[in-house]
Amino acid sequence: MDKIKIMIVEDSLTQAMQLQHILEEKGYDVTVASNGSEALRSIKKSKPLIVISDIIMPEMDGYELCRQIKANESYRDISVILLTSLSQPQAVIWALQSGADKFLTKPYDESHLISTLQNLKENLKSKDPPQKAINISYRGENYFIDSTRSQIVNLLLSTYETAVNKNLELIEAQDELKRLNQGLEEIVDQRTAVLRIEVNERKAAEAALQARSDEVKTMSQQLLQAEKLATMGELASSIAHELNNPLATVSLRAESLISQTSGDDPRRRELEIIGQEVERMGNLVTNLLQFSRRSQQQISTVSVCDEIEKTLELVQYHLRNHGIAVAREFKPEVPLIHADRQQLRQLFLNLFTNASDAMPEGGTLTIRVTKRPEEKQICVEIADTGVGIPPEILPKVLEAFYTTKPEGKGTGLGLAICRRIAQAHNGTLNITSEGGAGNGTRVYIALPFSNGSNSAWLEDE
Ligand SMILES: Nc1ncnc2c1ncn2[C@@H]1O[C@H](COP(=O)(O)OP(=O)(O)OP(=O)(O)O)[C@@H](O)[C@H]1O
Ligand SMILES: [Mg+2]
Repeated sequence: MDKIKIMIVEDSLTQAMQLQHILEEKGYDVTVASNGSEALRSIKKSKPLIVISDIIMPEMDGYELCRQIKANESYRDISVILLTSLSQPQAVIWALQSGADKFLTKPYDESHLISTLQNLKENLKSKDPPQKAINISYRGENYFIDSTRSQIVNLLLSTYETAVNKNLELIEAQDELKRLNQGLEEIVDQRTAVLRIEVNERKAAEAALQARSDEVKTMSQQLLQAEKLATMGELASSIAHELNNPLATVSLRAESLISQTSGDDPRRRELEIIGQEVERMGNLVTNLLQFSRRSQQQISTVSVCDEIEKTLELVQYHLRNHGIAVAREFKPEVPLIHADRQQLRQLFLNLFTNASDAMPEGGTLTIRVTKRPEEKQICVEIADTGVGIPPEILPKVLEAFYTTKPEGKGTGLGLAICRRIAQAHNGTLNITSEGGAGNGTRVYIALPFSNGSNSAWLEDE
């Protein structure tokens, strides 16, 4: 049997040779043309049964070649297979419009090509009427459609057009969506930024307001305190002044009366009571005057330990009577300091009196004096083993006129005076207490070494 003749139309020489090789292997008689017009020129002579043509070629492309073959009655028996690397659907449609019998996309599968040729061969052998079913191979899939070519073409065309239109609409919609999204994102970003700024501003404003209101609160408290002190101070000092002279007179008269009465006179006891009470009043007056007037400081070089001893002398009888032991812990290296001797004694006296009042059943009064070289300060700690101060009243005890003692017993000025004296020496006074009976109270007084003009001398120490 004669070999079946195939013409390959392909502008790429290597691809043509490759295909030629495959086909000759399979026993076909192969001729090659490099474009459509060359193929048309040689087709009469070589009379192929099958033309396998590339689509895009110089001079005449695959579609045109196919059209011309199909238009020529004498080439009626020639089957045309179009090969293309175009993977768009319209290539299929154009191929069908040009009248091609088969359409294969490149790179084609070799076995698929062979089976396609085999099919054609079978058709040639059986003298059946020309097939109406068309085999479309697209993207590796085979489609057999039982319809006339034009119907398929029209169907495909309209489907394709709708698809393209839908695609375009979709793309437009997507673009629109993207634009909308971007707009939305921008708006959201702007709003977020604005909100963030607003929130921050609000927070800052709130914080500032809080700070201001705290400030105002403390200031008004301080003001109240100062006002209270000022009015009370003025009042107290004027009364104290007024009282001073009559008290001195009463005191003198009482003393003179006592000296005139014999020991067994029943009036002597009453006179002594008058004398004691007058003395108490005198102390109160002195306290008030001390508190209300800031007398000029009398700074000298002072040994704090000595001043503590001098003050203890005043109260030792009282302490012993109440079963209070005194423990001294004076560090030897404690330096002399610049201070007002009188004020220091007043300070210690107030604190010893408080400690003694807190230990009605007796106890221990501990006095520690240490040096804090890094701060150029000395520290005096006065601790008792008394009733202690409950935490809720601890903040108030330094206030002037605050007392828990029965009327007539305490003025509530003792600690206020102590603090004022410490501050007048550029020092500090602090109180701690566990609050429970027996735990007692600790008062810390820190005083700078120097407090005056000859400080250089002290710093050298
Ligand atoms: N060592 C202490 N132990 C327990 N409570 C104390 C002690 N020192 C002070 N207080 C409490 O603090 C209050 C105020 O003390 P402050 O010395 O200022 O006044 P006062 O002792 O009451 O009166 P004044 O000292 O004028 O006689 C006291 O009434 C007391 O309640
Ligand atoms: Mg007191």
